[in-house]
Amino acid sequence: MGGLFPFAYVSGNSDKVDDLRRRKEKSQSGGGQERILAQHAKGKMTARERIEQLLDSGSFMEVDALVEHRCRDFGMDRNVIPGDGVVCGHGTINGRLVYCFAQDFTVYGGSLGEMHGLKICKILDMALKTGAPVIGLNDSGGARIQEGVASLGSYAEIFFRNVRSSGVIPQISVIMGPCAGGAVYSPAITDFVVMVEDSSHMFITGPEVIKTVTNEEVGFEELGGAITHATKSGVTHFTAESDQTALDVVRDLVSLIPSNNLERAPVEETSDPFDRPCSALEELVPEDPSTPYDMTNAIEEVLDTGSFLEVQSEFAKNIVVGLGRLGGHSIGVVANQPLHLAGCLDIDASVKAARFVRFCDAFNIPLVTLVDVPGFLPGASQEWGGIIRHGAKLLYAFAEATVPKLTVITRKAYGGAYDVMSSKHIRGDYNIAWPTAELAVMGAKGAVQIIHRRRIRGAMNPQQERDRLVDDYEESFANPYKAAALGYIDDVISPSDTRSSLIKALGALLEKEEPRPERKHGNIPL
Ligand code: HXC
Repeated sequence: MGGLFPFAYVSGNSDKVDDLRRRKEKSQSGGGQERILAQHAKGKMTARERIEQLLDSGSFMEVDALVEHRCRDFGMDRNVIPGDGVVCGHGTINGRLVYCFAQDFTVYGGSLGEMHGLKICKILDMALKTGAPVIGLNDSGGARIQEGVASLGSYAEIFFRNVRSSGVIPQISVIMGPCAGGAVYSPAITDFVVMVEDSSHMFITGPEVIKTVTNEEVGFEELGGAITHATKSGVTHFTAESDQTALDVVRDLVSLIPSNNLERAPVEETSDPFDRPCSALEELVPEDPSTPYDMTNAIEEVLDTGSFLEVQSEFAKNIVVGLGRLGGHSIGVVANQPLHLAGCLDIDASVKAARFVRFCDAFNIPLVTLVDVPGFLPGASQEWGGIIRHGAKLLYAFAEATVPKLTVITRKAYGGAYDVMSSKHIRGDYNIAWPTAELAVMGAKGAVQIIHRRRIRGAMNPQQERDRLVDDYEESFANPYKAAALGYIDDVISPSDTRSSLIKALGALLEKEEPRPERKHGNIPL
């Protein structure tokens, strides 16, 4: 453990230097060997081990190792641990500056008291001042009960800073233990949440309180474990099998995003040729328009090889979002997924994609949108759940975004969903379609049923007449050429040219500027 301090203890130390060493050693050993062993026995790393894994080797510089709590109640005056249960500082990831804090569960269960909270505030302030991402490693019993309202005050100071920094510096939270009560709101405000499977939990009220208040019985894992938040609530963006893999995810994520809202993400040299034909895409879209296919195949094929990092992969699977690289430049991908709900937009998909689009726009990450959408998901539960205002979020986010916006329509682009999915009309910059694209108000069968109902009913052979009209409609309208004729799409391309076309278009758009009216802020339909 001694390797973390870049501090030379010269032989022949004075008493004062000896005293300093003792203080720092006490800070380093946190809650003591027994509690460290207990942490390891749970399969968890200590706060310092986590920081060492997160950052480039030897880059960590600690601050506030000597901060102490001020509480004198409940015997706390006899148990003062310098550092106060959180390890704070800065270091680098792939050579780029980041600030970080790691709560130390061995000290008062990582609970957040006044000074512990103020240490985190200092890190958040420094990250904002220097324009660097901030990464919080959370492992805490929540508000330090002994410190009462002083603890709540420090939490609110953190929340305020999270909000102030939102859209200015990337903020990433890793949940590596308990995270309960109002404590969950700091991670919730940050841009990305990573949860470690089995050892992390997030909830507002725990199983015991729920049982008392509502008589509902639910276990920790089912209520607020990583899988629950990945699949049911969408609170977490990533899950990881272990502390180590969670920290690897953070390093991958940081490599794809800029350090702040005034910069661009680092450009990564790629050996993947810019003009590589994507021949596999020629056969991707099935002939039958109702047969699904996996849109992630298109994403993987088009992007620089192996660069795609899917975000919220287990939540609202009918839309795929994630970061990756195109010709070395970071991009955000939003894509309908025909494998789930036929790629329809529903409440969860709209909210998931809207938040992702806003993240990319805030941090100068161009958007590539792949469209195969039959529309918004019909149903009373969607209507009552507010698909109108939730769907509007995605429309709002795409329309608001001024980063380069590139859109590829692979198959269906029907109805309002056509407009929403980064269409030309809401200021898509480069909108293209494959020959298999169908841009229309709705699918042929539905359209014919509505506009030719009487004609079909009066026909000698209604089924035959319906089929003929559907064929007619498909030939006239279920294609990209009406939209191309109107300039709503810029080109119809062979699927195999998708990568080269997008890379060329992105190159032309990198310096794009699109000023909007001055305002305090818009009013996204929350
Ligand atoms: C002070 C705490 C603490 C807390 C844990 N500890 N939580 N000390 N304040 N909130 C201490 C314990 O006393 C214990 O000290 C040590 O941390 C380890 O805790 P254990 O219970 O032994 O560990 P474990 O069995 O792993 O259980 C962990 C736990 C449990 C699930 C987190 O400790 C627990 O339920 N804690 C209370 C959680 C809670 O209700 N927090 C308030 C949430 S509301 P010793 O000395 O015995 O080792 C909240 C509001 C925030 O946080 C609002 C923000 C606006």
